[in-house]
Amino acid sequence: MYFASDNWAGASEPIMNALMRHKDGYEPAYGDGPICESIEQRFQEIFETDCSVFVVGTGTAANALALSALTGPAGTVFCHKEAHIRVDECGAPEFLTSGARMWGLEGRHGKLSREALQTGFQEVPHGVVHHGQPSAVSLTQATEVGTLYSVEEITQLSAQAKDNGLAVHMDGARFANALVTLGVTPAEMTWKAGVDVLSFGATKNGAWCAEAVVFFNKDYAKDFIYRRKRAGQLFSKMRFAAAQFEGYFENDHWLDNARHSNAMAARLVKGLEAMDHTRIAWPTGSNEVFAIVPKQAAQKATAAGAVFYDWPSFGLAPEECPGEGESLLRLVCSFSTTQAEVDQFLDCLK
Ligand SMILES: Cc1ncc(COP(=O)(O)O)c(C=O)c1O
Repeated sequence: MYFASDNWAGASEPIMNALMRHKDGYEPAYGDGPICESIEQRFQEIFETDCSVFVVGTGTAANALALSALTGPAGTVFCHKEAHIRVDECGAPEFLTSGARMWGLEGRHGKLSREALQTGFQEVPHGVVHHGQPSAVSLTQATEVGTLYSVEEITQLSAQAKDNGLAVHMDGARFANALVTLGVTPAEMTWKAGVDVLSFGATKNGAWCAEAVVFFNKDYAKDFIYRRKRAGQLFSKMRFAAAQFEGYFENDHWLDNARHSNAMAARLVKGLEAMDHTRIAWPTGSNEVFAIVPKQAAQKATAAGAVFYDWPSFGLAPEECPGEGESLLRLVCSFSTTQAEVDQFLDCLK
């Protein structure tokens, strides 16, 4: 019963098979060979546009490097208060952008609202040397609390960002999970909605170490090869990082994985909602479920071998927070979560 994180899961078979296919022989190093080229073409087909693609090893590197391409000196990036770039990346975005500020904004359900963004623009206006330069807005899709922006919301926020001269970044560590729930195309959820640069995650969805920075607006990509190299993210055997995407995209494997993990999350939600003493903290749009359960029940599940994290209730209204004797749990499903695991966990909570 592993619900700690989707990156506790292993790597899925098509991805490992793709790695095995490329294990022999020789190929130019540092991404100059045919695999990396064909992967970029694959991204272009999937996103239906002439994007530039740079494979990196971690989501933190993807985000921090993507943002470094969007910020000038003394930049400010507007994001949700709980955004991974602001809270969980150990200052990597600040470091790789040479000190841009990650300006956290309030927002219900882990999402930026137009009002919050407007507040941010007022707090850090253009042209005040002391405040620095507003440079980008970063949205996380799916969000840190498992909710989703609709395409319309992304389009509106992007338009607002553009009206204020800012670039738009999307942290897509769980891009596939959001995509299959919304039932839209990758293009509709990104560049057609105004996203300039995407951190495209695959690791949490079955790869073992594969993320990509995808530039829809190629103007921002012009120095990126140097940024990636300087950050130590240009792997000499880049073909193995890239080969994972070969397996990932084959026969829509990435979408199948995401559908499976989302379905397991939906099963959890259904079971939790059927119990009187549990409730869901944020609407579940992806593979992450946040549930408020009695502490005793959580302890019983732990004793039975369930693994999950207790989660802080930042962002919940006071009346929504866990009460005395309750805990907020984060339960993350992955491509390898089984129905039996979900049902066993639910039984523990009964
Ligand atoms: C929303 C989000 N963005 C980015 C990351 C960063 O990924 P990594 O741990 O590979 O650096 C994570 C990882 O948990 C995440 O949840």
